[in-house]
Amino acid sequence: KNIAVIFGGKSGEHEVSLQSAKFIMEMIDKEKHNVVPVGISKDGQWYTGDDVREGLLNKELRGKPISIKLFGKNKGFMVKEEDSWRELDIDLVFPVLHGTYGEDGTLQGMLDLLNIPYVGSGVLGSSVAMDKGMMKEVFKSQGLPVGPYVVFNKYLWDNEQENQVNKMEELGYPLFVKPANLGSSVGISKAKNREQLLAAVEEAFQYDLKLVVEKGLKARELECSVLGNDDLFVSTVGEIVPGNEFYDYNAKYIDDNSEIIIPADLPEGVEGQVQELAKLAFKGLDCLGLSRVDFFFDEDGKVWINEVNTLPGFTSISMYPKLLEASGVTAKDLVKMLIDLALN
Ligand code: ADP
Ligand code: DAL
Ligand code: MG
Repeated sequence: KNIAVIFGGKSGEHEVSLQSAKFIMEMIDKEKHNVVPVGISKDGQWYTGDDVREGLLNKELRGKPISIKLFGKNKGFMVKEEDSWRELDIDLVFPVLHGTYGEDGTLQGMLDLLNIPYVGSGVLGSSVAMDKGMMKEVFKSQGLPVGPYVVFNKYLWDNEQENQVNKMEELGYPLFVKPANLGSSVGISKAKNREQLLAAVEEAFQYDLKLVVEKGLKARELECSVLGNDDLFVSTVGEIVPGNEFYDYNAKYIDDNSEIIIPADLPEGVEGQVQELAKLAFKGLDCLGLSRVDFFFDEDGKVWINEVNTLPGFTSISMYPKLLEASGVTAKDLVKMLIDLALN
């Protein structure tokens, strides 16, 4: 099969995606499949070519331009060679994009129109999981445990700021202020008083016109990997011990000060509870293929769902593959299973 691995993209998590793509491309069985690297620049231009990833990494565009033809006889991926456009033969897409325009259902919708199968969740699962506000609403309606939060958009902020500030302060400091549609902690701040809260709201509005503000929980952070379509395989549960005050972008990717513990050392019964909730969260959002479900485990022993990542970080040291590896699924097998799940 010709497998297009798509990476980069118009998202705050562009750089993270380039790392994930390197690992996934290495793990694809080259005897069975032909990998077609497809890189998207930060301004949304698509390219292919063996060294397109290196080009994006070094901020110098390389490769042959790709154009997508949505209608007509030769619809699909078109590649420009010399001065003419040729159809690129693609049997399957492995989207290795994190965040907007890749993990949020937009790419998935385009691939549906093109009739090209792809790894992972469809339009609805991807878009609901991407929007932290929608995700929490769905979990709440299904009776799944989500912590206290408020959601508001730029319109409400501009027109009734006092009301929104009151609602947030009723949750009690510290508060976590988040752009609704992002990942890798981009744009997220912890606010301990009103001054910090107003600054955090301004900061988050740089990234999205909708914000989610949550009560800061005093809790350990647990993660669980889910694999499958109908029958789900759940991994052992891992713990993140952030090196910074919370698990921010620097703690995730820059400072080498956070700790990953696999399996997490938990009281009797908690691992099973997390695994059960991971499955309910995955099914509750209509996910397919893969997701990493993240949790808080608070001081009173209660487990809360934080979020679902439908295209989780996927490097050799990322939690998603590491948790599965600890549960007996090697990264090579994992990538093979994800491809098979998408083709069936
Ligand atoms: P992202 O999608 O960017 O990963 P998260 O919602 O997971 O965003 O938040 C990033 C990090 O911020 C979490 O891993 C955690 O360290 C911290 N955090 C987020 N929300 C809360 C909360 N309600 N209470 C305590 N810590 C939080
Ligand atoms: N959004 C990042 C890549 C993650 O969840 O792992
Ligand atoms: Mg997270």
